[in-house]
Amino acid sequence: MIHVEELKKSYGAATPLKSISVDVARGEIVSIIGQSGVGKSTFLRCLNGLEKPDAGRIWIDGVDLLAPSTDPDAIRRKVGMVFQSFNLFPHLMIVENVMLAPERLLSLTRQEAYDDAMRLLRSVGLGEKALCYPDELSGGQQQRAAIARALAMKPDIILFDEPTSALDPTMAGEVLAVIRRLAAEGLTMLIVTHMMQFARDVSTRVLYFDEGVVYEAGTPEEIFEHPKRAKTRAFVQRIQSFAYTAHTKDFDFLALNSAVEAFGQSQSLTRKRISAMQLIFEELALNLLLPALPNENFLLTFTASYARQNDSIQLEFRYPGASFDPLPAHPESLSAILIARMTSAYSHSFEDGVNTILCRC
Ligand SMILES: Nc1ncnc2c1ncn2[C@@H]1O[C@H](COP(=O)(O)OP(=O)(O)OP(=O)(O)O)[C@@H](O)[C@H]1O
Ligand SMILES: [Mg+2]
Repeated sequence: MIHVEELKKSYGAATPLKSISVDVARGEIVSIIGQSGVGKSTFLRCLNGLEKPDAGRIWIDGVDLLAPSTDPDAIRRKVGMVFQSFNLFPHLMIVENVMLAPERLLSLTRQEAYDDAMRLLRSVGLGEKALCYPDELSGGQQQRAAIARALAMKPDIILFDEPTSALDPTMAGEVLAVIRRLAAEGLTMLIVTHMMQFARDVSTRVLYFDEGVVYEAGTPEEIFEHPKRAKTRAFVQRIQSFAYTAHTKDFDFLALNSAVEAFGQSQSLTRKRISAMQLIFEELALNLLLPALPNENFLLTFTASYARQNDSIQLEFRYPGASFDPLPAHPESLSAILIARMTSAYSHSFEDGVNTILCRC
């Protein structure tokens, strides 16, 4: 379905894609992972003709995408794309958004385009919202509308570029449910995602992008459980845990809070468990530790990791200084009571001038 050979793309001095070669068979669901800026979005944009590569070749279902004789509209008909930011036309109703391209490019009549759009909108749970404008819908609904719009062109391939990263976990769940169903229907899909649990469940293959190439490829099991190369292993470990170091007491705790949320989402944790992590951090680090630790040489490292095997979240707090466990120091405080309520295990240890608190939730 997709055959890519030694694809190269530079922007000025930066060359995110050095030599990408990939084959994707019909019906495959391929997840693409990798650090920010490695060229995952650039790669998807090359595949649907939004971006022109500097070198290399792309065939989509036997058609040479880069041949001068190839009609770009023909490719856009075959390859649908769903973006992180939905990209619906704000001045058009949802149903009009879905009808637009089929009316123009598939030469359907207005009535045919409408009937088709309504069928698709109902299939993603948005029958009732057809006559609303995009800003009257939640993010999850807008993204489902964007998927219906991509499907309206009857594409053979759909490219998803982080379709849930602008959404909170509930709305992300609605969108992932739609994508899962499409996967079961045999559509060929490429999905850039940081939703690890989802990538594991849904993909037939995972590509790890690094150094401008497909650095490692394999089944979800191979990439997530037994990565062969060191950089892949480091990346996979990093996305399964989250670490933050505060060097002063004035660190940006709100940014940290939303980073914890993003980490929880990437692990498909429930709202309740994400809140529990945030609550423990707030009570332990902000309320108990921060006031007790000295301003001089302040250092606090926070790590959260999720172990799928036993479905447990482990939080670790490390800080240098004298031995100090804040819980026994404030046994009656609300913070201590809440921490005790939220954690299933709590331990403090002190070694070589560094305190470590470990808790599970
Ligand atoms: N239109 C552009 N002009 C100049 N540089 C660009 C352009 N688009 C992308 N880049 C650069 O190319 C590199 C790859 O960008 P790309 O958006 O493909 O990365 P990505 O893997 O999708 O990252 P992220 O995970 O943050 O979405 C980045 O260094 C980016 O700054
Ligand atoms: Mg991107």
